[in-house]
Amino acid sequence: MEIRLEKFSKSFGPVKVIEDMDLTIGDCEMIALLGPSGCGKTTTLYAVCGIHKVTSGRIWFGDKDVTALPPQKKNVGVVFQSFALYPHLTIYENIAFPLRIRKESNADIKKKVDEVAGVLHMETLLDRRPGQLSGGQQQRVALARALVRKPDVLLMDEPLANLDAGLRLEMRSEIRRIQRETGCTSILVTHDQVEAMSMCDRIALMNDGKIQQIGSPNDMYHRPENRFIAGFIGSPPISFADGKVEDGSFVTPGLRFELPDRIKKASVAAGQNITVGVRPEYLQPDFATPIEGEVTFIESQGREVLYDITLAGGQVFRSIQTGEQVCKFGDRIRWGIDVNSAFFFDEKGDRI
Ligand SMILES: Nc1ncnc2c1ncn2[C@@H]1O[C@H](COP(=O)(O)OP(=O)(O)OP(=O)(O)O)[C@@H](O)[C@H]1O
Ligand SMILES: [Mg+2]
Repeated sequence: MEIRLEKFSKSFGPVKVIEDMDLTIGDCEMIALLGPSGCGKTTTLYAVCGIHKVTSGRIWFGDKDVTALPPQKKNVGVVFQSFALYPHLTIYENIAFPLRIRKESNADIKKKVDEVAGVLHMETLLDRRPGQLSGGQQQRVALARALVRKPDVLLMDEPLANLDAGLRLEMRSEIRRIQRETGCTSILVTHDQVEAMSMCDRIALMNDGKIQQIGSPNDMYHRPENRFIAGFIGSPPISFADGKVEDGSFVTPGLRFELPDRIKKASVAAGQNITVGVRPEYLQPDFATPIEGEVTFIESQGREVLYDITLAGGQVFRSIQTGEQVCKFGDRIRWGIDVNSAFFFDEKGDRI
């Protein structure tokens, strides 16, 4: 079922949190609402769910206007950021809860709870109470409770936040598999870009209550529309350096190189302030455009090694290289960047 937000705005008293947001989530699609803490992700999710009253604008599920419908009138499965389980009920009854409200038969309930418990590997936990589970196990109960009613729409707010690294990885693909199998239109709220990139068809990146860009993980990484997006997506992050345009070149203390033709053609003016952004994989020992500096940080991650290169002007560029460490802390190096893969931003931060 398609979900559509049309000029959705939300204020708390005088404080505008979301202003005029337009967002369409296609049938069966899983989209991530990604952004820094406080940007309005949970607020948006609550409005779609019906917990928050919308200040203005409309929300549609398919061709039905659900703007004013309360959560219990929609078939929505929700996993909250602080998932509230009922402490006095067993895990079985916690999962069964949405079905009991719908007054389904005991036999139907048992079939559905057993099925979802199997999918989430929690058959052996059903007789316990929430207090007897770890945080990660409780999170899976919350997910099971959201899924058991076969919702049309699945809304998840940081569903993996309390899991350890191994379980998080497993649950990432598990949630995605369940979502694909059930085909339910889903919104995943997260501030973790790796989670958003690996789980979702598209990402809506938010900042300050506004969507900055919507696109596939590939688009967001390779075609960020502005500096904020380029800086938010990618791990380890992109390096930026501010400079000026001079004779068709990018110039900053300690670095000067000819701008790629596509940037020159984009009518950049001499003297204009311009920022270059280089992702760490585009700074390598044998790349064409020379960059010189001192190695000021090294982190070996096993398969890959990260290096920070500090230029004479103080700007720091990061390089990521596979294989063994090739130099040591304090070395002076002359490596290269691939300027055709670099991004350039104007004074407002928009990509040129
Ligand atoms: N009930 C409320 N009353 C007043 N302000 C609120 C209320 N709920 C949220 N806010 C404010 O709205 C803004 C967005 O909050 P929201 O919870 O949507 O952020 P978020 O993107 O989910 O952040 P996080 O990643 O930290 O969970 C914040 O500045 C928050 O303080
Ligand atoms: Mg939140």
